[in-house]
Amino acid sequence: MVSQNKQYNKFAEEFNGLHKGLDKVTNLSYYSYFDENLKNKTLLDLGCGEGVDIKYFDKLGANSYGIDSSEKMVEISNKKYEKSNNKIRLGYFENIPFKDNTFDVVCSKYSIQTSENIEPIYREVKRVLKKNGEFIFLVVHPIRQFIEKKKKQKDYFKKEIVDSILFSGKLVVCEPTHTISEYLSPYFLNNFEILGFDEKYDPSNAEEINGDKYPAFMIIKARLK
Ligand SMILES: C[S@@+](CC[C@H](N)C(=O)[O-])C[C@H]1O[C@@H](n2cnc3c(N)ncnc32)[C@H](O)[C@@H]1O
Repeated sequence: MVSQNKQYNKFAEEFNGLHKGLDKVTNLSYYSYFDENLKNKTLLDLGCGEGVDIKYFDKLGANSYGIDSSEKMVEISNKKYEKSNNKIRLGYFENIPFKDNTFDVVCSKYSIQTSENIEPIYREVKRVLKKNGEFIFLVVHPIRQFIEKKKKQKDYFKKEIVDSILFSGKLVVCEPTHTISEYLSPYFLNNFEILGFDEKYDPSNAEEINGDKYPAFMIIKARLK
């Protein structure tokens, strides 16, 4: 089995082309959590993929960087930013290749749920954020992951690897499931102040099962205490 961190190498090119026109609800909701003016802000996108969001944040004035564990994704996104050296780096959420106190904003979209354990990521985010820095992340909603368990007599609390359907069924990735209390862990609540929360249905990012409507993602905006 390809490691969950490396699985995007298989379809990086395909992923690159599928963004257009999809993820509309997701993107509108996610972007609404960022200041409209990010001038002079340093920003890091965790699991930046092919860098679509980095392009958006740069347009708002940010000095943006990204990391991703897929060599192919890093290669594709760096081609878009030929002139800016080392903007997108190969790296893991659990070992972020940047110095302490570097960023005003750390963000992530549809990425950190790929890791089995969330707390090591929070520790790294705390390390690289400046004091009062913001952490804005969007993940596959735990209710959606519960539904992705598919079988009868599902156990919400049991960590399992599930198939997650992306882009109206055009791609399938495997991810470990998480509970809401893993995201809102004691470590998180002790170190971050929650500024905003949202959860939404996105037809391009949720499976149609018996007409059920459920949240595709949840967003948390927090400030480092
Ligand atoms: C669903 S994609 C999201 C990409 C982008 N944020 C977007 O919204 O289009 C998830 C990304 O996270 C990356 N990834 C998964 N596990 C990772 C890890 N532990 N560290 C860094 N990147 C990781 C994958 O390679 C992939 O590019």
